[in-house]
Amino acid sequence: MVAIRASKLPWNDRSGRFSLTKALSLALTLAPAIYLGTLAVKGMIGGASSALGPRPITEAIHFTGDWAIRFLVASLAVTPLRRILNYPKLIQIRRQLGLASLFYALGHFCLYVADQKFDLMRVLSEIVLRYYLTIGFVALAGLVSLGFTSTDAMIRRMGKAWVRLHKGVYLIGVLAALHFFMQTKADVYQPTLISGLFIYLMIWRIAHAQGFNSTSLRVLLSLSVLAAALTAITEYAWYSLATNIPADRVLLANLSFSNSIRPAWWVLSVGLVLAAISKARNGGKRGAAGKSRCITKSGERYSLAS
Ligand code: HEM
Repeated sequence: MVAIRASKLPWNDRSGRFSLTKALSLALTLAPAIYLGTLAVKGMIGGASSALGPRPITEAIHFTGDWAIRFLVASLAVTPLRRILNYPKLIQIRRQLGLASLFYALGHFCLYVADQKFDLMRVLSEIVLRYYLTIGFVALAGLVSLGFTSTDAMIRRMGKAWVRLHKGVYLIGVLAALHFFMQTKADVYQPTLISGLFIYLMIWRIAHAQGFNSTSLRVLLSLSVLAAALTAITEYAWYSLATNIPADRVLLANLSFSNSIRPAWWVLSVGLVLAAISKARNGGKRGAAGKSRCITKSGERYSLAS
């Protein structure tokens, strides 16, 4: 029997010791799949009255798509959060979150194939003919290439090319968000929210790369306001370019709280909370995590989503 090295177990760190951070992240990534599996089994036992509703496969396609994009954004949040929260160990879970996104996306695709009665020619023609599926396919192909090259051996073998390839995760994020917007019929609340969080993470990276102190209160407050404004603009742009719904009414709805709190406010709130935490943890100074270089040859920081 082949013995698995302790450091290879998904809940252990590189030295082979148990890591609570990794164990919690593993539980978090498995929970949606277990939940979906439970509902599917209940549905099979319950017969026609499926626990997943009247169209269980469609429901499962939506569910896995949602989690694929959530884990993708979560993997992109690791680098900003480890600095903002001054919690360097968070880097341990970046690869796990990236791979979780890949596995949910693969599940999503397989369910789509099953929904097409495994008619692969039809799947192929749909992917070629429907823009939103073409975009989803390119995003999936990108995720597969990142997942395939995410091992330590690949990181060592590819060197700088690995870093360039894995920067592609930003484009994959844009494509996945676009796919989400395009398949949504009228109400783009959810795609706008996830895109707003993605925008926050991207402008944080730009600020960091430009040499701003990306854990300072002033910078984080400015980023929050900017990300919220860009979220509202994205939502406005979508409604005005892709629908007949009056986009200015949607934009004005950002100033009314009677129906729902618009995505831009949630993005602002997340940004403000992070700014407050950073102030408490880092006191406006660059955190310990902020001092470390992003890339080391030892490999831990070479993983999905740089
Ligand atoms: C070949 C690749 C892909 C195919 C064929 C595909 C197919 C689909 C289909 C058929 C839907 C539902 C559309 C509807 O009901 O009208 C959907 C929704 C969605 N997909 Fe994909 N997809 C692919 C890749 C991806 C990837 C890579 C991601 C994310 C990383 C993703 C995220 C989503 C999301 C978030 C939704 C919306 C779920 C919801 O409405 O709750 N998809 N996709």
